[in-house]
Amino acid sequence: MTDGRVTVSNLKKVYGEADEGEFLSVVGPSGCGKSTLLYLIAGFLDPTSGTVAVDGEPIDGPGTDRGVVFQDYALFPWRTVEGNTTYGLEEAGVPESEREAIAERYIEMMDLDGFEEKYPEELSGGMRQRVSLARTLAYDPAILLMDEPFGALDRPLRESLQDHLLDIWRDLEKTVVFITHDVEEAVYLSERVLIMTRHPGTKKAMTEVDLDRSKGREAIVTSDAFTRTKNAVWRSLREETETGTEAR
Ligand SMILES: Nc1ncnc2c1ncn2[C@@H]1O[C@H](COP(=O)(O)OP(=O)(O)OP(=O)(O)O)[C@@H](O)[C@H]1O
Ligand SMILES: [Mg+2]
Repeated sequence: MTDGRVTVSNLKKVYGEADEGEFLSVVGPSGCGKSTLLYLIAGFLDPTSGTVAVDGEPIDGPGTDRGVVFQDYALFPWRTVEGNTTYGLEEAGVPESEREAIAERYIEMMDLDGFEEKYPEELSGGMRQRVSLARTLAYDPAILLMDEPFGALDRPLRESLQDHLLDIWRDLEKTVVFITHDVEEAVYLSERVLIMTRHPGTKKAMTEVDLDRSKGREAIVTSDAFTRTKNAVWRSLREETETGTEAR
């Protein structure tokens, strides 16, 4: 079992480190290389130079210590909701006798009970994204790598999944690297926000998020600290988009 500390150094310029158990968001102009960074950490791509390490060990391709949630869900169309959810468990070598019960727990958590036998094409976008989350969470990776996972969802669903994710992160002590173009989402969810420059993306700034999270969403998002942090991230991000060709 890994602890979940991700180190990225000298990787064609950028980056830094996500600490064990940390929730780190990444924002940056469109096309700056956020997805690329995530795929490098996932081990789907090899860096031209530099290294990606987990708990100090350079990674060597994908592994079940890291779970990826893609923006476009990337479900297997030929597998049902349950079949998709058990996939990661199969990859992780969980015995067949245990898979169904584990899958069912996450299907329930994502409010998908009753849809176990449906295929992705029979589901809405929001439901597909929840299946994708269930599939990744089910095999319990120490590190969650998420690429704009809630970008296509409507606001109530997005907020509900954000809070689900925070609960999971707190309960299961995972390291989360979360890409988003939504500054509010980044500040609401994370302990630190990495702001990237425009293409080719490098680390522009790292903003600490220090909020009193003991109260509910409403109190958090209306607090002065939230507004201050959000504005600071916005200012930094806007410098990149205004000087570049991208306006997002
Ligand atoms: N450090 C880099 N050096 C050179 N090319 C890069 C670098 N990072 C990313 N690229 C290239 O830039 C393009 C855009 O990268 P990527 O898809 O990662 O951007 P993104 O930030 O995820 O954009 P979006 O917000 O639109 O999803 C890709 O073709 C990628 O290969
Ligand atoms: Mg991207």
